Amino acid sequence: MTATFITFEGCEGSGKTTQIRLLSEVLTQRGMPHIVTREPGGTEGAEAIRALVTTGDAAAWSPLAEALLFAAARADHIEKRIIPALQAGQWVLCDRFFDSTLVYQGVGKGLGTPFLMQLHHLLFGNFKPDLTLLLDIQPDVGLARAVQRHGDETRFESMGMEFHHAVRDGFLALAAAEADRIQVIKADNDEPTVHISILRALHLYSENPGMPS
Ligand SMILES: Nc1ncnc2c1ncn2[C@@H]1O[C@H](COP(=O)(O)OP(=O)(O)OP(=O)(O)O)[C@@H](O)[C@H]1O
Ligand SMILES: [Mg+2]
Repeated sequence: MTATFITFEGCEGSGKTTQIRLLSEVLTQRGMPHIVTREPGGTEGAEAIRALVTTGDAAAWSPLAEALLFAAARADHIEKRIIPALQAGQWVLCDRFFDSTLVYQGVGKGLGTPFLMQLHHLLFGNFKPDLTLLLDIQPDVGLARAVQRHGDETRFESMGMEFHHAVRDGFLALAAAEADRIQVIKADNDEPTVHISILRALHLYSENPGMPS
């Protein structure tokens, strides 16, 4: 299998970080080289930008400034981390990527997806994930999970329910428009059930655990 760039998308509390950890364990057991990374972040510079955009006042940045900060973080991440890993034959499991920008800044903050797609194309050409797993969940269920978790990255969690419904609908619209890249995973089941759905989507599921699929 050639190195694959897989992104995990979905609302707060949909289980992205949990499911990346579970998938990473399977890849490790099977001796498949990979890295786990996240956006915004993944490099020293991009993690510094993450602190700027995920903490503090939800209205701290203008939507355009916020989108450009995400783009700056992504430029560093793609160049220094994602492309070198893929070139070294490692799979890349990335917690959020460009689809989150399209949905949060494009739909949720009103910048519009066409503008952000143009910006992405200008900066990164046709670079995109080989596969995107969209963990779909009702926003209230996801948020209830997310608020139980401690942390200070609460800027987006603190937005109103209307925002979170727009985010969910935005993700589903992207999945409908790019069905060959984006697979919708039902994320309101328990962790092992969601994990099996993901292994099936990647053709890594084996009825006999431990046996090669
Ligand atoms: N299938 C599940 N059922 C119940 N609880 C879950 C499930 N998956 C994850 N959780 C719990 O819900 C919380 C949020 O999960 P997780 O951090 O993986 O979500 P996330 O999509 O990464 O959220 P965020 O977008 O805020 O980073 C965690 O406390 C996690 O243990
Ligand atoms: Mg997470």
